[in-house]
Amino acid sequence: MTRLALITGGTRGIGAAIARRLLQDGCRVAVTYRGNAAAARAFMDATAIAAYPWDAGDFGACAAGVHQVEMDCAQGVDILVNNAGITRDASLHNMTPAQWRAVIDADLDACFNMSRAVIAGMRDRGWGRIINITSINGQKGQFGQSNYAAAKAGVIGFTKALALESARKGVTVNAVAPGYTATDMVAAVAPEVLRSIVLNIPVGRLAQPEEIAHAVAFLAHEQSGFITGSTLSINGGQYLA
Ligand code: CAA
Repeated sequence: MTRLALITGGTRGIGAAIARRLLQDGCRVAVTYRGNAAAARAFMDATAIAAYPWDAGDFGACAAGVHQVEMDCAQGVDILVNNAGITRDASLHNMTPAQWRAVIDADLDACFNMSRAVIAGMRDRGWGRIINITSINGQKGQFGQSNYAAAKAGVIGFTKALALESARKGVTVNAVAPGYTATDMVAAVAPEVLRSIVLNIPVGRLAQPEEIAHAVAFLAHEQSGFITGSTLSINGGQYLA
């Protein structure tokens, strides 16, 4: 049967690479985006994948949005990729409550909101894949990212707990922890900071989004049913967790 995959933040960067890869692997694919309508339009034109605008940090919007996708596709979501994420980097002594809240909402609450909207259907159907994109910086911490590191570390704990709850129902829940990847998010880091980061990547370069998508496709595969609760690190050797 054709699986339906839904990827949050799926019109740019790692999310777009995941969407293209799952489509190539034979899934039906839908994506969400929050703000960048021009990027979403370009993505839809290039791929013919439907992109739905809603804020994954908003519980009600996720419930309504998932319902809409499932109605439009006349099928439940089989594969959820919680990919949407933002940064609001600042040292803690300068961080505002708004910077803290925005990252926790978008990077951690979104995993709850979206998973909550699909989990009952996956359990009923006896099959599902939830793949949460965490980060190397949730594993090792990062100067200027107490909000992001807390959210991404939270995603790993969330993944493990939901994996235990879902194991008997044919639903696997895993995390992928990318290192620094060639996306708009990393391009926003100051060039001198980024240069020193790349010096500490043993492979000697940034990841390409397609290399992260490859891991997501592996975890989404029919034959990956015994992998659950794991965190797959893809960081060029930068951090060996
Ligand atoms: N490591 C060590 N020291 C640092 C530092 C760092 N990364 N960044 C700043 N400092 C130093 C400053 O040089 C300064 O030192 P002096 O007082 O001796 O001059 C001191 O710390 C105080 O700095 P501030 O608190 O004023 O911080 P800042 O405003 O200079 O920098 C920051 C803050 C812009 C957030 C900076 O720390 C930074 O760019 N950090 C990296 C953030 C990062 O890697 N983000 C990743 C985004 S991509 C992503 O997140 C994707 C993913 O999952 C991997």
